[in-house]
Amino acid sequence: MEPKVYIDGRLYPKSEAKISVFDHGLLYGDGIFEGLRVYSGRIFRYKEHMDRLFESARIIRLKLPLERAELERAVEDTVRSNGVRDAYIRLVVTRGSGDLGIDPRKCGQSTLIIIVDKITVYDEELYAQGIPIITSSTRRIRPDMLDQRAKSLNYLNSIMAKMEANIAGVGEALMLDCNGNVAECSVDNIFIVKAGKLLTPGLEFPILAGVTRAVVLELAQKLEIPAVECTLTLHDVYCADECFLTGTGAELMPVISVDSRTIGDGRPGPLTAGLLREFRALHSAEGIDLFG
Ligand SMILES: Cc1ncc(COP(=O)(O)O)c(C=O)c1O
Repeated sequence: MEPKVYIDGRLYPKSEAKISVFDHGLLYGDGIFEGLRVYSGRIFRYKEHMDRLFESARIIRLKLPLERAELERAVEDTVRSNGVRDAYIRLVVTRGSGDLGIDPRKCGQSTLIIIVDKITVYDEELYAQGIPIITSSTRRIRPDMLDQRAKSLNYLNSIMAKMEANIAGVGEALMLDCNGNVAECSVDNIFIVKAGKLLTPGLEFPILAGVTRAVVLELAQKLEIPAVECTLTLHDVYCADECFLTGTGAELMPVISVDSRTIGDGRPGPLTAGLLREFRALHSAEGIDLFG
């Protein structure tokens, strides 16, 4: 059956789900989005994703078309209408339809889109094997130019990095900040393990405050793994004992080489494997069953 897509209060079959070519989300990338997962009928870290959506809206001065409770009801109803217990939710809010100038005042109401679909970012065997990654020549945008903590529809920076990963034949690209420090990947945050410690760039770097990143820091505390948010260089990554990526799509993906430098013994490390196990146990237990 075709997925049903919510647009501004109505459900459409995927093939008929369309918006105006005058929408500023299309013309200028003027909008925000969230990617959420449904596991066993439960939306994982729902509050955190909705908090981030509302923060992104505040940053770009976007008035959402619905109050939070109504928006959440629309998300939940769309998941139920699609009848899927394991899925990916893409929530998009654009500035709406305007004229050909950039002026947001010309746009009427913002456009709300909710897509519920299947997702497989990586094949299951890769979680046991790990993946190689490369460093992209495209740097993250400086936060004083456009703060990366707002999850906006401007993803060209990440897409440039992803194309380099594609050319290199790997799944992800590591991106540096304008000073050459490690920031994050095209759509994932990055962690390394060194001498039993978990290290990841802090939020002062041009990165998205990943929901999965926060879950990993929480799990580290529970498992009594020391975790530090700090400056990391490529030297730290190349010489790490373990490395992994985090994201709603990727979950927790082990990295086995970076720019052809083998990480550890070239297999997913024990801390990474333990955190992945804990992460998976958490997401199938937490939250309210939408179908219950
Ligand atoms: C640039 C970027 N960094 C990191 C992430 C991971 O964030 P989360 O764990 O909230 O999915 C994403 C996810 O879309 C992203 O686009």
